Amino acid sequence: MKASETKADCDSKPGAKHPGPSVSPAAQSKEIQSKARQSQGIHPLGISTLSVHGGESRIKPCDAITDSIVCSSTYTFEDSQAIIDFIENGEQREEYGRYGNPNEKVVEQKLAALDGGEHAIVFSSGMAAIVGLLMAKLNSGDEIVFFDQCYHRSREFCYKHLSRFGVVTHQVPTGDFSAMEAAINENTKLLVSESPTNPQLTCIDLEQFVALGKEHQVDTLIDATLATPYNLRPLEFGVDYVLHSATKYLGGHNDLLAGSLTGSAEKLSDVRDLRGVMGGINSPHNLYLLQRGLKTFELRMQRHNENGQAIAEFLQEHPRIEKVFYPGLPSHPTHEIAKRTMHGFGGLVTFLVKDADWRETANIVDRVRIAKIGPSLGGVETLIEQPLIMSYYNQTPENRRKFGIPDNMIRLACGIENTQDLIDDLQQAIEG
Ligand SMILES: Cc1ncc(COP(=O)(O)O)c(C=O)c1O
Repeated sequence: MKASETKADCDSKPGAKHPGPSVSPAAQSKEIQSKARQSQGIHPLGISTLSVHGGESRIKPCDAITDSIVCSSTYTFEDSQAIIDFIENGEQREEYGRYGNPNEKVVEQKLAALDGGEHAIVFSSGMAAIVGLLMAKLNSGDEIVFFDQCYHRSREFCYKHLSRFGVVTHQVPTGDFSAMEAAINENTKLLVSESPTNPQLTCIDLEQFVALGKEHQVDTLIDATLATPYNLRPLEFGVDYVLHSATKYLGGHNDLLAGSLTGSAEKLSDVRDLRGVMGGINSPHNLYLLQRGLKTFELRMQRHNENGQAIAEFLQEHPRIEKVFYPGLPSHPTHEIAKRTMHGFGGLVTFLVKDADWRETANIVDRVRIAKIGPSLGGVETLIEQPLIMSYYNQTPENRRKFGIPDNMIRLACGIENTQDLIDDLQQAIEG
């Protein structure tokens, strides 16, 4: 076994020597922004400028404009002294693939810049990011409080798995801050919510959420997968951790799985350490795809937002539709919060078909010709699903009622196709 391999596999504290960015993303983006201001006398850089250039070196190997995919599971040292220098001086370099790779570094800096955070960690999926954070932060006897509208696998992880390690999860009605406060005690370590939630698209008042966390000295986590940093920037409200399933809008092309956590370098340091042990890291190929997807992030989000709004408005007026859940509609219970906190309202639209049982609802889904039937959201292709069948088929009717999943619910994840085409397609499917 080679010296570097021995060290990676046996001796080193994973993550402790992770090179990390030589300049933090926040500092880097501040530096770019202040340069832009000095030279042009104007405002900070926009989302597209950051998603195209953030985290990238100006001059790259071979003078290429794109980053190379660095296919290396381990990294070599000149001699034994170089290893000792690396250990003793925390030199910025790669060591072993489970602790990071050059493609990851670029993507992490880009995501940190987009979220306006000091530090980001990319995981192999959104679930790996959630699990990574909870496992790094919680000990037996600790408690967490969740708003109840949430991705069903996050709920499953807490109830089925975290509980095995002695961590207690309390679920309270989404947006009910009195219930959340009542569930907090001296063991509470984390308050958790999505915003908007999935699939009801409830937006959380982040000022209240953060105030509650600060009052009780409990950290806060927002899963902002459905919003993305284009529509919502929870760190600016004082949230401690922001999570994204980058599988969705950030990757944007339904061709990869990834997840990210953004926050302060200090708070994320033990999360990175644990990831180095658990190994939920992306391959360099996957990271390259994510980096490439991010280049068009703002343009795609603009179309997702336009499609979501237009389709929600179309559905709201349609006589066969009972109810539409979309935060951009004044009829949505959290429209005012969404207007106050979000830049746009995203591509996900959930609706109920009037007087339809599960079969009639399924018939509408089956008649759609442009949207494809499948789980997930945030890619360029529009996806449609009936939550009863797709994600809650094995749940009892009572549980489905509890989670707010009626039989006549359809979830449409608008892609970037032309708006009128999507509306015409939905219309023919609804009118059958
Ligand atoms: C809101 C939300 N968070 C997290 C996840 C998990 O992400 P991934 O599928 O990348 O593991 C999902 C997946 O659908 C989700 O919708």
